[in-house]
Amino acid sequence: MMDVDKEQERSLPVLLVSRTENRVLSDREVVAEISGLVTTAGMQPVDTVVLRRFDPAPKFGMGTGKAEEIMHVAESCGAEAIVFEFEITPTQQRNWETLTGLTCFDRQEVIIRIFADRAMTREAVLQIELARLKYSLPRLAHTYSALSRQRGGRYGTRGGGETQLELDRRSILKKITRIQGELKEVRKDRSTQRKQRERVSVPSCAIVGYTNAGKSTLLNALTGAAVLAEDKLFATLDPTTRRYDLPSGRKVLLTDTVGFVHDLPHTLIDAFRSTLEEASFATGVLIILDASDSNIQLQYDTSLAVLEEIGARSRPELIVLNKADLLDEHTRARLPVEFPGSVLISARTGEGFDAFAQLLEALVSGSEQDYLLPLDRGDLVARLHREGTVSKVDYRDDGILIRAGTDGRIAALLREYEYHA
Ligand code: GTP
Repeated sequence: MMDVDKEQERSLPVLLVSRTENRVLSDREVVAEISGLVTTAGMQPVDTVVLRRFDPAPKFGMGTGKAEEIMHVAESCGAEAIVFEFEITPTQQRNWETLTGLTCFDRQEVIIRIFADRAMTREAVLQIELARLKYSLPRLAHTYSALSRQRGGRYGTRGGGETQLELDRRSILKKITRIQGELKEVRKDRSTQRKQRERVSVPSCAIVGYTNAGKSTLLNALTGAAVLAEDKLFATLDPTTRRYDLPSGRKVLLTDTVGFVHDLPHTLIDAFRSTLEEASFATGVLIILDASDSNIQLQYDTSLAVLEEIGARSRPELIVLNKADLLDEHTRARLPVEFPGSVLISARTGEGFDAFAQLLEALVSGSEQDYLLPLDRGDLVARLHREGTVSKVDYRDDGILIRAGTDGRIAALLREYEYHA
């Protein structure tokens, strides 16, 4: 992984290379996505090459003629780096750098850089460092010494002959072991915190969704929290939890999570599992979709796939269609049909917040249930008043008949007292 000075990197002109065989997204969408990622990473895409037909040859991932063509495009547009939208092997990366004299890397490295930039908690920093080290291990021989000589040290150097390489490798392996140990400790703290929160028994909802859907903006709008929102992908990396008071007066904890991307490299899903893990412990999950995006279905599918992967599909879900302010009448009418049970909102204007709050209330309350509690269980009555929504109480000779909406945890606790007339 190259070490580039942050300030200098901002202006780094980049040539994007993408190919057409992506079946889920159109060419235009693939280019828009990689371009968005590169911009978010602080670089500047200056031109794009879309490969339509090429022979997959081992040296460059394509024929030498094609590779030279790309090199000429890079020269003529003044690019100082080439970013491949598809994965290239460490050897191919080296071959490209030798051929072009430019820094060359792939989408996965771009994503790691973005995540690294956004990491704020100790756990996130450790996770990204781990992903970064694992990614760079087979790429160690990918040195920038030649480049740095050429450009007066613009790129950090790494390695200088085999001995240095071996030293680097050993020190990286040692670091990986150390970080894995530290992560274990940090995770322990985190699960203790979660247990404490569960004991308090305030229902919680994880806000998940495709990157840039508006998760942070929604959390800000609802809670006034200063969660970083930017017109960039991945503004949020660490789960950030805030309290939201529902109209009924009940409280719910809302947790912002890292944005999903289409085709997130597997190594990264593992690395970020515990930041997303929050969703699998939440009472409910809010799936935020950018309704103004023509590929909203892909956002939805990606979100469900990630939730499935982290074992959070069993939670009650609410689909929140955001950015209603950008929609035309036709789309406004169409989307609720395509996504039944969803709510259309604008995190920017506040449109739809009332309906949203009601659905959120229902999501965390579950449906109402009658319970017949023993007369000496006034503690449970108090708890239902405190943590549920009580709509009726009747003190009878055989017990306290109470009708209440609760979240799943309390419902489980009260199961033996369920009353069916
Ligand atoms: P990540 O942190 O990358 O996962 O993104 P996010 O889902 O948290 O998105 P964020 O809240 O950062 O919003 C992304 C962009 O969309 C920002 O420029 C917001 O201002 C914009 N945005 C969010 N909600 C709305 C909305 O309702 N209407 C409009 N027009 N723009 C919105």
